Amino acid sequence: MSSSQNPHPAISRRSEGLKGQVRVPGDKSISHRALLFAGLASGESRITGLLEGEDVLRTGAAMRAMGAKIRQDGVTWTVQGVGNGCLLEPREDLDFGNAGTGSRLTMGLVGTYDMKTRFVGDASLSKRPMARVLDPLREMGAQVLEAQQGERLPITLQGPRHGTAITYRVPMPSAQVKSAVLLAGLNVAGITTVIEPVMTRDHTEKMLAGFGAAIEVETDGNGVRHIRLQGQGRLVGQTIDVPGDPSSAAFPLVAALITEGSDVVIENVLLNPTRTGLILTLQEMGGDIEFLNIRSQGGEKVADLRVRSSSLKGVEVPADRAPSMIDEYPVLAIAASLAEGETRMPGIGELRVKESDRLSAVAEGLRANGVECTEGEDYLVVKGYPGGKGLGDGTVATHLDHRIAMSFLVLGLATEKPVTVDDDGMIATSFPEFHSLMKSIGARIQGKEEEQV
Ligand code: S3P
Repeated sequence: MSSSQNPHPAISRRSEGLKGQVRVPGDKSISHRALLFAGLASGESRITGLLEGEDVLRTGAAMRAMGAKIRQDGVTWTVQGVGNGCLLEPREDLDFGNAGTGSRLTMGLVGTYDMKTRFVGDASLSKRPMARVLDPLREMGAQVLEAQQGERLPITLQGPRHGTAITYRVPMPSAQVKSAVLLAGLNVAGITTVIEPVMTRDHTEKMLAGFGAAIEVETDGNGVRHIRLQGQGRLVGQTIDVPGDPSSAAFPLVAALITEGSDVVIENVLLNPTRTGLILTLQEMGGDIEFLNIRSQGGEKVADLRVRSSSLKGVEVPADRAPSMIDEYPVLAIAASLAEGETRMPGIGELRVKESDRLSAVAEGLRANGVECTEGEDYLVVKGYPGGKGLGDGTVATHLDHRIAMSFLVLGLATEKPVTVDDDGMIATSFPEFHSLMKSIGARIQGKEEEQV
């Protein structure tokens, strides 16, 4: 069941060809970092294209509570930062709601400040493991004054008077952990080094360099990245135009591929290579995805994607591709359900510590709708049913997880019978326009309440 106090179920039905041109909201990872770094930098930053989802707004509220001035004028967000090293102790708890990225990056940011900060979140975030961030922060001098069993929220951190620069080898492929250590390194003397054996999204490195941090990345002969950051440098306000989120584009993209007769253009999608694993995989499955108007925006490659419905074939997704599509496995599983043959997804144990245990949430949702699948500790194998015959008629437990809700609403567009999700309220954390955007291209998705009117 959903653990929302006020669940809002939604249903999706087999749809005619999806048609039109849409623009997905700004990238969530870049939006969090834009507010964090702008709030920390000296002077003014201007941000356009910001994802105005609940998760990102919580990060904005946290930066405000620590002294940043953040104002919205139409589509532009203007931030007056405090200056590196000058965050103020927040008077109240920092409530991150559903947001893992916001909470973990902010723990890093404040972990080397001589102040007390208390982190709280919703039922989903309060179940997520925080040791991965607390361990390196302890090495840098932070004390954990309060944590719940298994190092979970609510957590209170007290930073040291003088933190220590460390060299830290990230034990799991996690951009959040890498980023937390680098952000903690901003407020200590000396060079903080993060060793990253498996490359994850590189927005923190790129954006910190853009804000003026002395940061360098070296990749050794084994492909291991060594990221070195000089602490206590000056960060200066920037102008940022956030490109569209490939993790949100994934939903209309898969919807168009699996809904017969579709032809959709998704504009302004970020194509940073650490984020494009899903597009590559769908192309290998036979997906008709064309890149239009490829251009560069703020140092990132972006393009418009033209997507037409396709007969997909099952594939094996290489395990080492997982970091570049980690948030996209739920919707890939939906594409796999409509493909010919089996799709194998190894090396995805990290899915178990997302907004929900996504591996089991996906497997349960598929089975509830007639899709056979095998769930292992760190893999999923999905059998495909081209045409969606016999599928649907199930209700999916979303466990407060936006990507589970959106993925299964996409499934219902191509199944013989409708698909219901028990709650869609949390979609607003990352993609507030999901319903209106999907409706605008002809997707038959609606709230259960609307249906009864
Ligand atoms: C993110 C990193 C990923 C991803 C999350 C956003 C980021 O998490 O799942 O949605 O912005 O750094 P992990 O670092 O846990 O892999």
